[in-house]
Amino acid sequence: MKKIARVAILVIAAGTGLAALTACGSNSASNGDSDSKGKTIALLLPETKTTRYEAFDKPLFEAKVKELCASCKVNYLNADQDASKQQQQAQSAITNGASVLVLDPVDGKAAAGVVKSAQSSKIPVVAYDRFVEGANYYLSFNNERVGELQGTALAEATGNKGKILMLNGAPTDPNAAQFKAGAHKVLDASGLKVVAEYDNPDWSPDNAQKFTSSQLTNIDPADLAGVYAANDGQAGGVIAALRSAGVKKMPPVTGQDAELAAIQRIVAGDQFMTIYKPIPIEANKAAEIAVDIANGKTVTGTTDFQGVKSFIFDPVVVTKDNVKDTVVKDNFYKVADICTADFKAACAAAGIS
Ligand code: GAL
Repeated sequence: MKKIARVAILVIAAGTGLAALTACGSNSASNGDSDSKGKTIALLLPETKTTRYEAFDKPLFEAKVKELCASCKVNYLNADQDASKQQQQAQSAITNGASVLVLDPVDGKAAAGVVKSAQSSKIPVVAYDRFVEGANYYLSFNNERVGELQGTALAEATGNKGKILMLNGAPTDPNAAQFKAGAHKVLDASGLKVVAEYDNPDWSPDNAQKFTSSQLTNIDPADLAGVYAANDGQAGGVIAALRSAGVKKMPPVTGQDAELAAIQRIVAGDQFMTIYKPIPIEANKAAEIAVDIANGKTVTGTTDFQGVKSFIFDPVVVTKDNVKDTVVKDNFYKVADICTADFKAACAAAGIS
């Protein structure tokens, strides 16, 4: 685990260096701000209940665009998990003459239509975090690997036996299918038995809580070895449901996104693990690509993912043991953010100071 964390930190360092180099390039006399004067970059994010979007993706992307291209404007649009709202937002960005759409789709399949419509107006589309067919570029983390890491952690934490619940992401989100496939690959080959599985239609923590509560009317919580929750928002709902059912010592529950509340639950022993995806790498790279497109420059260094030029980054497992070596070390959170009054004692016990 430590090794993976170190790799991620190196990647961040490399990403930062790369961004700095690109920043110099973008400000050069021939291809600098003057070319992109008044250009608008549309950033379309899917929802707000998952904290990453407004706490990390949006501000990091905006800051990087500003650094690389002082005269570029970012038009930020959040769809609140509503695919038709996102379609309208994209359409208005196209009509208003955006130079490029950076699109994290609510519905990956429906977004293929947005891509066609943007491209017919000569506007390239960068699929951000979630894949969209036909996009000019795509960047994300290795999402199948995310599911494998979650499944492996759960099998280890449960001693590889017993009953589990499985809560996946929204079926409209292409990432959710990849997380689920990766997790099933591991869990189906393990000694664990999935007694009930749920594809949460909009990733909502409330739905996760309701599903878990309803399952706990059939399954004695004491018989539950653990819960696979695809992300931290859902993990929060699962843990709330277990608590209302009278559970004091939580079974291992997985998550993803390294949300602050999840890191605090991990430190306190209520959540077993999360997946940390160093969002600065992703947001900075997306900003670089968008500015390059706005400046008419060629984007280099891509790999192929399902026929689209892509950048794929590595996810990192976080448990109580490596909070300090991952999210704290990267300055994703400060110790003071995590170790608020309610978590002081847990932080001290976990050696986080
Ligand atoms: C996924 C994304 C995750 C999480 C989830 C809920 O597509 O990769 O980081 O945010 O959606 O929105």
